[in-house]
Amino acid sequence: MLEIQDMVCGYGQITALRGVTLSVKAGQLVALIGANGAGKSTTLRAISGLVPPRSGSMIFEGEDITSASPQKVLTKGIAHCPEGRRVFPHMTVAENLDMGAYLRSDTSEINADRDRIYGEFPRLAERRKQAAGTLSGGEQQMLAIGRALMSRPRLVMFDEPSLGLAPNI
Ligand SMILES: Nc1ncnc2c1ncn2[C@@H]1O[C@H](COP(=O)(O)OP(=O)(O)O)[C@@H](O)[C@H]1O
Ligand SMILES: [Mg+2]
Repeated sequence: MLEIQDMVCGYGQITALRGVTLSVKAGQLVALIGANGAGKSTTLRAISGLVPPRSGSMIFEGEDITSASPQKVLTKGIAHCPEGRRVFPHMTVAENLDMGAYLRSDTSEINADRDRIYGEFPRLAERRKQAAGTLSGGEQQMLAIGRALMSRPRLVMFDEPSLGLAPNI
């Protein structure tokens, strides 16, 4: 479903990715493994449209998303659970989850998905009215994962998803 060819990306003078080629098939779980600074997060940011590639191409379900905006990429069904959680600290747990469903209007299905996430992460259910910035690191990670799932993505990318989480979670 996702085909990346020879992608080059950087920040200012720095070249962070020198020709990344990878593919993801439907139903497949693909893991990027590498040392700190290897370019894992940059790869995910490039797919999300947050870091525009200098060259190379990205095709998602037959459509060229190489220079697509983050909004467009999300509309196509790609969700990103970013490194370092990045929850909205002044919004409640429930509001953060609803932000994940921002592009959807199927209210009853959104409610069902929110309940499903509360079922997976009972800690979030207990804290649904609490400001996200006051959650522990692990709870914020659960919230970021839940928020990404709330868009009902066709492809979801998790950056360092286990950071701060207890091993059994
Ligand atoms: N915002 C940024 N500005 C400048 N350089 C960056 C930025 N983010 C990452 N880099 C650099 O890009 C390279 C790849 O980093 P990153 O994608 O975060 O690696 P990883 O996620 O594998 O640890 C590193 O050399 C890093 O210093
Ligand atoms: Mg990283």
